[in-house]
Amino acid sequence: MSVAIQAPVAKTSNHLALPRAAVSAEMQLTAKQKRLIRESFLKIEPALNLVGTLFYLKLFRLDPTLRTRFEGPAEMQGRKFAAAMKLTAISLNHEDGLAPTLKLLGVRHRQLGIKARHYRTMARALIWTLEQSLEKSFTRETKHAWMALLGQLTRIMAA
Ligand code: HEM
Repeated sequence: MSVAIQAPVAKTSNHLALPRAAVSAEMQLTAKQKRLIRESFLKIEPALNLVGTLFYLKLFRLDPTLRTRFEGPAEMQGRKFAAAMKLTAISLNHEDGLAPTLKLLGVRHRQLGIKARHYRTMARALIWTLEQSLEKSFTRETKHAWMALLGQLTRIMAA
């Protein structure tokens, strides 16, 4: 399925303003890719906090400057990671319907100083974490499906 999403027109005085240019995002995941992502997510779901800890270790190794952006105890980070992963999994079923929420989340991230390159670093850290956590069941096809989803989310959030 391919759905074009138009961003609302931005108001200049609003600090939550979205980019002026209309943003269009294409949902490019196939039904099989969605199934592969869903299946791998279900495998790590019981240990999301632990997987989250691994993810942050890798993320901060790839970019130590990101450490200061995440405040609070490690346990809290684990919970935030779990929330972000659940939102990611949910976004599979809601495609265009979730785009406005993701855009707003993207605005909030921009306010926190999160740039497009940070999304790329995050994607690298997450793919590495999934590789470590899922071992053989993280096949090339599953990896490509996750990369497609992360690219999609980045296009919507960092647009
Ligand atoms: C797939 C993309 C992403 C999703 C779905 C996502 C999701 C979320 C969610 C749900 C929150 C909590 C929102 C809130 O507290 O208002 C959050 C907070 C945050 N995210 Fe993300 N995020 C994404 C990408 C990133 C990236 C690339 C970075 C930086 C490398 C990042 C850094 C942060 C920070 C610093 C916070 C605030 C944490 C805190 O309050 O301690 N996020 N994210």
